[in-house]
Amino acid sequence: MFLAKNKRTHHCRQLTATDIGKEVVLYGWVDTRRDHGGLIFVDLRDREGLTQIVFHPETDERVHELGHHLRSEYCLGIRGKVSARPDGMKNPNLFTGEIEVDVTDFEVFSTSKNPPFMIDDNIDVNEDTRLKYRFLDLRRPCLRKNLFLRSKICQTVRNYFSGQGFIEVETPFLTKSTPEGARDYLVPSRITKGSFYALPQSPQLFKQLLMVSGFERYFQIVKCFRDEDLRADRQPEFTQIDLEMSFITQEDVFPIMEGMIKEVWQEAKGVAVTTPFPRITYDECMERFGLDAPDTRYQMELRTVSDIFAATEFKVFRDVISQGEGYIIKAFNVKGGAELSRKDIDDFSRYTSVYGSKGLAYIKVLKDEWQAPIVKFFSEAEKKALCERLHMETGDLVLFCAGSAKVVNDSLGNLREKIAAMRGLVDNTKYNFLWVVDFPMFEFDQKEKRYMAVHHPFTAPKLEDIHFLDTDPLKCRADAYDMVLNGNEIGGGSIRIHSQEVQSKVFSLLGISLEDAEKKFGFLLTALKYGPPPHGGLAFGLDRLMMLLTDSENIRDVIAFPKTQKAGCLMSDCPSVVDAAQLLELGIQVIQG
Ligand code: AMO
Ligand code: AMP
Repeated sequence: MFLAKNKRTHHCRQLTATDIGKEVVLYGWVDTRRDHGGLIFVDLRDREGLTQIVFHPETDERVHELGHHLRSEYCLGIRGKVSARPDGMKNPNLFTGEIEVDVTDFEVFSTSKNPPFMIDDNIDVNEDTRLKYRFLDLRRPCLRKNLFLRSKICQTVRNYFSGQGFIEVETPFLTKSTPEGARDYLVPSRITKGSFYALPQSPQLFKQLLMVSGFERYFQIVKCFRDEDLRADRQPEFTQIDLEMSFITQEDVFPIMEGMIKEVWQEAKGVAVTTPFPRITYDECMERFGLDAPDTRYQMELRTVSDIFAATEFKVFRDVISQGEGYIIKAFNVKGGAELSRKDIDDFSRYTSVYGSKGLAYIKVLKDEWQAPIVKFFSEAEKKALCERLHMETGDLVLFCAGSAKVVNDSLGNLREKIAAMRGLVDNTKYNFLWVVDFPMFEFDQKEKRYMAVHHPFTAPKLEDIHFLDTDPLKCRADAYDMVLNGNEIGGGSIRIHSQEVQSKVFSLLGISLEDAEKKFGFLLTALKYGPPPHGGLAFGLDRLMMLLTDSENIRDVIAFPKTQKAGCLMSDCPSVVDAAQLLELGIQVIQG
């Protein structure tokens, strides 16, 4: 009845002093309730905000009486008159803080059980409970704001790319495995028992096919599925802003992607991002930061010092160097770090051991001496060279790691970030975008004793490096690039191979036999025989972008219904066991592990 007769006139973050005297209808939920016996105050909440409504015995005796029965999270509609709050009762922190609505009629649409946590931003409740009751969690303003912004950004992205001549094309979810390097999520086929679809790790192959079809510019905001170890910035299903373009080189791709970032940052943050973004080669990036997604908001860059210790007396360093190519010593200078305690340094050492480091050597530069167990092994020449290379001054702390390049870079690169956070060196007002370019085509997997694609197997080698495919594949650089923001990889892409011959060579280097390639990506290989244009593209991680735009620590805070670290949904309780009949129909027998 109420709903049919009383159409909403305003939302709950709309009424101000200029509306005083108006008759209004609001819908929403009971946020808080203060029952003073005489007067009952309720903060009514809808998706936009709060309005205080008042049940006054003098306005309507019956309505006031019924008002006593309201409880948290009841859903209701009210009719009433906007009045000024008495002086002293105004709330300057609330948009609608100057007014309140005197309720003349209302209807409780539905009651609510007592919620398991307060619908408030400042609650201290474990995340599992929030995830189990996600529908209530999403009533909290912070999550609601994140999702509103996400929607707005999707709109901005769609408008931007449409304006640039990109067309949005959907690609299948029930498909064949795409090689992005993670495990696939498989879906059994009922009709062809024993056969499986793979959920796409990305639309990579399909977007390339769309280029062969002649669409020239494609985009899609699309779910991708990867069964991999989860971290704070990874979900098993996540969203990409996925793009592909024809007749382009890297130089054509970059300004278009930078343009999107410019619009998104303007829209979300009101920040004018400067373009073009700086570029750094992968090699330089690894040398200076140890990581391929560097945070350049602070200094503390790594330096290789292997040459200084080429003939050192210090056994640990000598042994590492004697292992030959690929074994290095690197160090960085924590300015003013001499004040750190032995315990801090032990913690750092433990932290780097996770990355395979066998130890962390240090020097504290004190006023009269270098304090360190290792200094006694160093010659004067070594000390002098070290001092110059690392700009060592009184009060500094220098940290060293020796070992394989991978271990040393992982250890010191991550430690650099940890120490920057710990010492407050990170300027949170900065947005340091950059491109990492010239990735290697391949890396050598020591465990499997074979080459692996650093990006994916369809990435083109740099023209000038193609000859390395035959002679020294590890020297071959790829036409691949990542966009990085403040130490986060927010997007990655490449120019693709459009020559069958090069594609076959790359497959063979990756140990993918022609037969295997035919079986896995035959459709792409066939398409490459029908006049493929030169093409390339990129995919942004939308969830990661949203994390950075909303200053969220966790990717789950920008996703409506996220999965836990164990890739489960606590609300719907999936994954779950299915009926025996369902399995039988699919021809599947479960082996209990
Ligand atoms: P890539 O694998 O680099 O490239 O993925 C592109 C971007 O997607 C984001 N991302 C993720 N976000 C959340 N959870 C995950 N598990 C996850 N994995 C990746 C990252 C990353 O930069 N097909 C290629 C793109 C191309 O070559 O055009 C691809 O998928 O921000
Ligand atoms: P040890 O000879 O093992 O007692 O090590 C002597 C010093 O060298 C200690 O401070 C260790 O932390 C450090 N150290 C050991 N291994 C490494 C390594 N791989 N890289 C850097 N420092 C190391």
